[in-house]
Amino acid sequence: MPELIPMLSKEEIDKMVSTLALQISLDYDGRTPVILGVLKGAFIFLADLLRYLTIPVEVDFLRVSSYGAGTSSSGNIRLTKEIETNIAGRDILVVEDIIDTGLTLNFLLNYLKNFDPLSVRVCSLINKIEVRKKKIKIDYIGHVVQQGFLVGYGLDYNESYRNLPEIYHLKL
Ligand code: IMP
Ligand code: MG
Repeated sequence: MPELIPMLSKEEIDKMVSTLALQISLDYDGRTPVILGVLKGAFIFLADLLRYLTIPVEVDFLRVSSYGAGTSSSGNIRLTKEIETNIAGRDILVVEDIIDTGLTLNFLLNYLKNFDPLSVRVCSLINKIEVRKKKIKIDYIGHVVQQGFLVGYGLDYNESYRNLPEIYHLKL
């Protein structure tokens, strides 16, 4: 049986999200960024983050699939949902659930460049640093972990556990 080891409580997540939102609201003061949520993992984080932001924003989503079934990145990344907003000349904030190898984000940043945005920054709830393969700058980070596979608060293992309000370490 897989074992779930508690890592971040509801209260800890809430504090992280409101702290990130405060910093983002300060940095984007006077601007209206387009917040791009990366589906599916970021949807809960994005929804909570948005409600703490005090600046006007627009929201869009894109979707990539890379993992397939399992706990290690396949490196085989496909865009399965395009953005629908015209982001030319706009400030873009990409919102991710977790960055691991960095391959997904690297792919997304290259994709977004094609649309000539004014600026692109990245916000990730979790930064997993052990197996980074692409060097990328993450502008806003909620929490850093060395390694392991995390689930809950939008994060899944084979599509399960996204609904858990807390974040857990999954031991298989
Ligand atoms: P990367 O391309 O290796 O950086 O992986 C990025 C994507 O893989 C994330 O957006 C997640 O959707 C997924 N992922 C990476 N690590 C985890 C994890 O620990 N739990 C759940 N999903 C993960
Ligand atoms: Mg993701």
